[in-house]
Amino acid sequence: MKTSRIPGFYKMSVSERNELITEMFELSEDEKRALGTDNSLQMDTADKMVENVIGTHALPLGLGLNFLINDKDYVVPMVVEEPSVIAAASHIAKIVRESGGFKAEVNERLMIGQIQVVGCPDIYEAKNDIIDNKDELIQLANDAYPSIVTRGGGVEDLDVRILNEEADSAYSQMLVVHIYVDTCDAMGANIINTMVEAMAPRVEEVTRGKVYLRILSNYADRALVKATCVIPPELLKADSYSGEEVRDGVVHAYEFAASDPYRAVTHNKGIMNGIDPVVIATGNDWRAVEAGAHAYAARDGQYRSMSKWYVDDVGNLVGELELPIAIGTVGGATRVHPTSQLALKLLDVQSAKELSQIIVAVGLAQNLGALRALVTDGIQKGHMTLHSRSVAIAAGATGEMVDIIAEKLVQSKEIRVGKAQELLGEYKK
Ligand code: MEV
Repeated sequence: MKTSRIPGFYKMSVSERNELITEMFELSEDEKRALGTDNSLQMDTADKMVENVIGTHALPLGLGLNFLINDKDYVVPMVVEEPSVIAAASHIAKIVRESGGFKAEVNERLMIGQIQVVGCPDIYEAKNDIIDNKDELIQLANDAYPSIVTRGGGVEDLDVRILNEEADSAYSQMLVVHIYVDTCDAMGANIINTMVEAMAPRVEEVTRGKVYLRILSNYADRALVKATCVIPPELLKADSYSGEEVRDGVVHAYEFAASDPYRAVTHNKGIMNGIDPVVIATGNDWRAVEAGAHAYAARDGQYRSMSKWYVDDVGNLVGELELPIAIGTVGGATRVHPTSQLALKLLDVQSAKELSQIIVAVGLAQNLGALRALVTDGIQKGHMTLHSRSVAIAAGATGEMVDIIAEKLVQSKEIRVGKAQELLGEYKK
């Protein structure tokens, strides 16, 4: 098994890191090319992915290290523009691995498709008729996408809801048919949309209503993924802060986010700082994951913290994060984007379930990274040190000058492009 502990990785040059990863994962020439800015996504591939293409837009791809999840080591590809994110995730993953690593689980993984029916002469009769014809409708859906059935997936269940039962003039009563589909290792948007479109004419016949929308639901609450970690306080201490102080601060930070939407949004943004980079690196639809995650955070009617932090009987800090995760390891951009293919190879995941567990564990690590900083020195100290490098680059610094100027910026406490230009000018003299 490959280790995700690579001490000193951050101190290496990009080419040294590439060499190490190439050797460790036995990358082919094509895979090595997928790491280069010029060659990762070819223009003709990009041109087939979306419309009106004029170029490609590169972002940094870094590795989250030290992740031990369900006793397996993972190096985690993360695509993100924000400094500190990868460092913080890796730092927390190192702490958590010392206490046994993250545990993650997925009980079921079903994607949901919706069919909206309006204008039924008798909505209750229509509902019963759908239920009576359930087997036939499921068969229609499966026949529309036989390859997923061959792969061991397909529609597992179907149900019907009535919306706006007490409708007044502003809204119509409607029926909504849901199908629950095992999409195997695909995210499943195409599978589901094909199925619900194929079912629609028969749904109209059965209900004597009119079908309007036939579409996947991004609220994937039948694909919930949970990650947990248990950390003894001594592993949490930071500079002049005791482990207990940090632990209690994290719990208070959680209580704040659990009770106040203003804080919850920022708290959850910190979680998505970990989740989106992995979703993007693996070629998945991050808007779908974002939409589902935020809806789940508001499932009891108030928008709250996605994660939960508490102290167990023996004084350990316990973290839990449960989210709907609609991603895939096959299909979509995961198949066509060479760097996404490479990301999946580095992760060495065998299934969409396994990838979704990694994604949630990284979200939990990222959350703790932010909270630990916030309840101690604050985030600006670490953030500005890293931010100063981007400022130095924006001012025109290259090569070793980036770190030299960045350090001078931090010393000057004036981290802005103008100051960096001034420092560069002085250095060149
Ligand atoms: C910044 O990108 C994320 C944080 O604001 C998250 C948080 O406040 O928990 C630091």
